[in-house]
Amino acid sequence: MDLSADHIKSLHKYELRILQSIEYLMSRYSWVPEEELVHNSRLSANEVHFRLSKLMEKGMVKYSQVPYPGYCLIFNGYDTLAISHLVKKGIISSLGSCIGEGKESRVYEALGTGPVILKLHRIGQRSFQTVRRGRNYLPEKQHCPWVLASHFSAEQEYLALCTLQNHVRVPTPLLMNRNVIAMTYIAGDRLSDCTLENPREVLDEIIAQVRAAYSRGYIHGDLSEYNVMFDGEEIWIIDWPQWVSPHHENASEILDHDLETITKFFHRRYRISSDMNEVRSLVTGC
Ligand SMILES: Nc1ncnc2c1ncn2[C@@H]1O[C@H](COP(=O)(O)OP(=O)(O)OP(=O)(O)O)[C@@H](O)[C@H]1O
Ligand SMILES: [Mg+2]
Repeated sequence: MDLSADHIKSLHKYELRILQSIEYLMSRYSWVPEEELVHNSRLSANEVHFRLSKLMEKGMVKYSQVPYPGYCLIFNGYDTLAISHLVKKGIISSLGSCIGEGKESRVYEALGTGPVILKLHRIGQRSFQTVRRGRNYLPEKQHCPWVLASHFSAEQEYLALCTLQNHVRVPTPLLMNRNVIAMTYIAGDRLSDCTLENPREVLDEIIAQVRAAYSRGYIHGDLSEYNVMFDGEEIWIIDWPQWVSPHHENASEILDHDLETITKFFHRRYRISSDMNEVRSLVTGC
């Protein structure tokens, strides 16, 4: 079931309280028993039972009989906790439609003081191993690895956006909570979806931005025509959760892959040839 703005808007304060209790108790239980929720939320047993049925209807909570009866959050519930926090902090006042759905994220339009983008990181069980690679912090065993992995992925992207802000053209990060980042909306199209009048200048500008990021310790790691936006004047580099440092053991391969992907795109689409050695040394300065 899709995360719906109406479901979040119509959330009763007790439903929010129960989501918070489940989240808290999930550090102790794979499936949170109903009695524990009654105890933790300080609501009556009847109220908890009724609210849990509402949360299941909204696709925010899952129930299982095995190995013992209990409840756990699913992505819609976790996203809801994060989005409610952003609303409380005044970052957004309404949630719009979903404008992008990748393997590991969903992107929503929202409204705050201006147009805002919400990126919901959703690292599922399958992609969890990919995220773990090269990140020694993630523990082997955790009751709910997707919660940790999705939070961690958002944290990585938020860190890149905060550090690169004012140095590299990236969206301005507004706030992060749990697995969700609020950032400024870029009014433009992905390079894959637009026709450039001056492709050579745009490619040079991308390389200059990659160099600026590199000099501040960031290699994008997934640079492509899908992660560069053009607003008619400037380019913007988006989608940073998989960045690596220039000191990472595979840094040079990852940087080469980024540069090859983007130069190949300009060759394919605009017949612009680039010398990879030259481009690499422009970025690294050696
Ligand atoms: N700040 C932004 N302003 C406008 N549109 C954005 C912004 N961030 C993302 N988008 C839109 O949402 C789409 C998906 O965003 P993004 O590339 O960050 O995630 P993703 O590709 O889904 O992630 P993954 O690669 O993990 O699947 C982008 O291609 C772009 O169209
Ligand atoms: Mg992307």
